[in-house]
Amino acid sequence: MDPSTSGLSQKLAKAGQPHLLQFWTELSPEEQGDLVQELQVMDFQEINGFFKSAMETSGSSKQEKMDARMEPVPREVLGSVTRDRESLKDWELEGLRCISQSKVAVLLLAGGQGTRLGVSYPKGMYDVGLPSHKTLFQIQAERILKLQQLAEQKHKVKCCIPWYIMTSGRTMQSTKDFFSKHNFFGLGKDNVVFFQQGMLPAMDYQGKIILENKGKLAMAPDGNGGLYRALGHQGIMGDMERRGVESIHVYCVDNILVKVADPAFVGFCVQKGADCGAKVVEKTNPTEAVGVVCKVDGRYQVVEYSEITLATAEKRSSDGRLMFNAGNVANHFFSFSFLKDVVEKYEPQLQHHVAQKKIPYVDAQGQLVKPDKPNGIKMEKFVFDIFQFAKKFVVYEVLREDEFSPLKNADSQEGKDTPTTARHTLMSLHHRWVLNAGGHFIDENGRRVPAIPSLKDGTDLPIKCEISPLVSYGGEGLEELVKGRDFHPTLMIDENGVHELVKNGV
Ligand code: UTP
Repeated sequence: MDPSTSGLSQKLAKAGQPHLLQFWTELSPEEQGDLVQELQVMDFQEINGFFKSAMETSGSSKQEKMDARMEPVPREVLGSVTRDRESLKDWELEGLRCISQSKVAVLLLAGGQGTRLGVSYPKGMYDVGLPSHKTLFQIQAERILKLQQLAEQKHKVKCCIPWYIMTSGRTMQSTKDFFSKHNFFGLGKDNVVFFQQGMLPAMDYQGKIILENKGKLAMAPDGNGGLYRALGHQGIMGDMERRGVESIHVYCVDNILVKVADPAFVGFCVQKGADCGAKVVEKTNPTEAVGVVCKVDGRYQVVEYSEITLATAEKRSSDGRLMFNAGNVANHFFSFSFLKDVVEKYEPQLQHHVAQKKIPYVDAQGQLVKPDKPNGIKMEKFVFDIFQFAKKFVVYEVLREDEFSPLKNADSQEGKDTPTTARHTLMSLHHRWVLNAGGHFIDENGRRVPAIPSLKDGTDLPIKCEISPLVSYGGEGLEELVKGRDFHPTLMIDENGVHELVKNGV
């Protein structure tokens, strides 16, 4: 196919992107076919428009600090697992009731590229090295299974929590294959629904689309806020409607502690009559690089740490806590009708954010270049950009050590949010569950290990202990298994019983 006779060359010239065909004559017929296919479906007018408004917004927002326009989350819209202990049971019961009526769905954001972790497969397939070697996908699937079981036991009805999984062009096939290979981890195949988010080309600072190689554009997913467009384009809202879903819990694939469809969070939001809710963890250090949920000009949004001054970040309330302390963990509640409004009405109003990146490209001579400083942008929407449209917004504060430990970086990078920190936080939570249920740990000499393990060789390695989500969703139901018993680590509790791996020489 000749691009000049088919009108493609003219289309590209008009859009200011003629360079995309500069290596045309060097491509094989197959490569030419692929490139034409990719270019023909692209709406260049729309893409150029996205670029223009994203650059304008990012330019203006960089200069202006938000401080004067910000107000903290008022106490009346806040629920807290530490400050509202007396209400927790009620919220949980309400959430379980909704789940038992199959009105709650979960929606997983798994379309990211996981560049920092640096593996070639989807992050959900990552094994952080737990004794069971379960992947993030398996842990989440088992939490869903267990929660369905808890709701069924309580209400004596069969129920289901549909699981919507957003992938991208790059992760869709491998994610689906992985679930098939593992028999959907015991979940009903029809209740796991995959859908794909959109992709956008990476562009240089002048708005020219970058070529990744001579016959291929540098494409990237359009951010986790690409969710809303994808929900509409792929008929997912219709699927939710048919199933009678009323509440949706949205979360990120990389948080190993995520309480999928958390009944207390769902119950809190439902009881408050909220259309939109954000789970947060308390920000305690003013310089922590985390976005905070707050009001700006009277509307809720997430303000990034780079958008405020240190003085505002350090401000404290009369109780001594940071004034802007609602740390966003990308874990949200939406009512079905709110989500539908967003998808059908508000989505086009969302602006793309600009992420400056180092994007490998072919230069005019056709040489592949790997830049060592950012040379272009990726355009992304964010999942929380829709808070501004909520009519009744609530915030639910949980404990970081119980609920938030994301996997972002490889162990080789050391430090924060690595496979090691993810593994340790999960084992440390399970260790506390065992202690709270009346169990104890003993060392190789038969001595009880103190509840707070002392520093050993300068490290504070946690007790090796893992509890299958199939046994306990949130620490419940463990007394009969552990109360009054002493265990040698590694302790594993799963559907086959209680095992001490080292003692048995495993
Ligand atoms: P991050 O922004 O941390 O990106 O995603 P990432 O892909 O996991 O990692 P890096 O930045 O490339 O190293 C937060 C969550 O949003 C999802 C991710 O899968 C993760 O659950 N996400 C991100 C999407 O679903 N789509 C996107 O386009 C981007």
